[in-house]
Amino acid sequence: GAPIEADISNLKPGEMMTVAWRGKPVWILNRTDAMLADVVKADPELADPHTTNPFSMPLPEYCNNEYRSRADRKNILVLVGICTHLGCSPSPRFTPGPQPNLPSDWPGGWLCPCHGSTFDLAGRVFKNKPAPQNLDVPPYMFVNATTLVIG
Ligand code: FES
Repeated sequence: GAPIEADISNLKPGEMMTVAWRGKPVWILNRTDAMLADVVKADPELADPHTTNPFSMPLPEYCNNEYRSRADRKNILVLVGICTHLGCSPSPRFTPGPQPNLPSDWPGGWLCPCHGSTFDLAGRVFKNKPAPQNLDVPPYMFVNATTLVIG
């Protein structure tokens, strides 16, 4: 599939948008500083915090870091929004804290409605969930401050 452009000029901190790439949903989340802090906090609870076992594509080298994003724009997270278990699309659950179907110390992330896999704010799967791997990070780059090219 051809690369696509995404305009993130209206993407406020804490908000996510979805674009289509290769027939799949790709999420772009503008993480707040609090969300970035929750990524660090989640590490001990994750099955594969450093993505040693990627799903359908390698983790881009420039995203092989704590936040799984480009270092100069670490708040912007780009993920393929397809659960690595059986392919459902997880739902955003960005508000931390107790809520239905989530642990009381939920740090924020995504919940897969099909079999309950949970993912942190860097798309990494929590331990002991049916999803075997972290969500994919597609290749992407910024062509200017507000335009991303994915693919
Ligand atoms: Fe997501 Fe099964 S498809 S947990």
